[in-house]
Amino acid sequence: MPDKIAIEKGSVQETLIIPLYGRKLCAEVFPQLYTDPSAARICERLDYDFSELDKQAQSTFWRFGALEAAMRQLDMQWEIRDYLVTHPRAAVVNMGCGLDQTGRACDNGSCRIYNVDMPDIIAAREELSPAGEREVNIASDLNGFGWMDEVDGSEGAIFFAAGVFYYFTEVQARALLNELAMRFPGSRVVFDTVGKLGKRLMRSTFKSFGMENYDECLYVEDVEALRGWVPGAMVSARGYMLGYYPMDDPAVTGLHRFLARLCDGPVKMRIVRFDL
Ligand SMILES: C[S@@+](CC[C@H](N)C(=O)[O-])C[C@H]1O[C@@H](n2cnc3c(N)ncnc32)[C@H](O)[C@@H]1O
Repeated sequence: MPDKIAIEKGSVQETLIIPLYGRKLCAEVFPQLYTDPSAARICERLDYDFSELDKQAQSTFWRFGALEAAMRQLDMQWEIRDYLVTHPRAAVVNMGCGLDQTGRACDNGSCRIYNVDMPDIIAAREELSPAGEREVNIASDLNGFGWMDEVDGSEGAIFFAAGVFYYFTEVQARALLNELAMRFPGSRVVFDTVGKLGKRLMRSTFKSFGMENYDECLYVEDVEALRGWVPGAMVSARGYMLGYYPMDDPAVTGLHRFLARLCDGPVKMRIVRFDL
């Protein structure tokens, strides 16, 4: 058995554990809705104490958390596959990829897959699942734009970020989008956001990951406010939980559906899309 890979406790990088574990749990509990063999395999290879998460895995709320992680990935996959219909050789770029394999899940045999994250995460990723054919792992802070030099967007590009824009200030998010617009005209960018209430609800979780500047970070109360961010871009948004798929699985309960409507409603959890 190869050595286990350590994930540093109390770091921003540790935040990748929650969606990863959520995808593993979702694939176990809601198999008709979501499959993700890589999540379980990767969890097994991590030197991380999952016992607390395992204990809570039976609860309705944790199962709903798992649904959140999986629905977001399904939403991203919808957007990627949709873009690949018209740009089959596009760059598929996972910004703040963690240990997620969405690029591979959408591989059409001709696209190019890029995974960008901080150096320690990319190092762990390389050990757990080294870059395959037509795949490049890039160790970089997303806010230093040099990483974009490595992306070949000559046949289109779709950039997606799952659970990542919460770490950016509005200034950083706008700068990133404008840089992508300048370098990759015709590309698509997809990311998830929450409104003011959602941000308040997530506060203690993010603070526990040592995120000092949480109060300054992005939330989107009104999608209309994003329209002026990138000149000439088209902006649209859909509900995060129910905006793409109806969440069909026999194990999805009435309470889960109620919570999903709350998330897409007052909590304003959304998948935002910029067509640049
Ligand atoms: C909540 S995790 C989500 C991981 C992955 N997208 C998923 O769905 O499993 C957030 C990820 O964003 C990465 N991240 C946050 N800020 C970043 C930045 N400025 N540059 C690169 N990666 C960043 C973290 O290292 C972490 O892997």
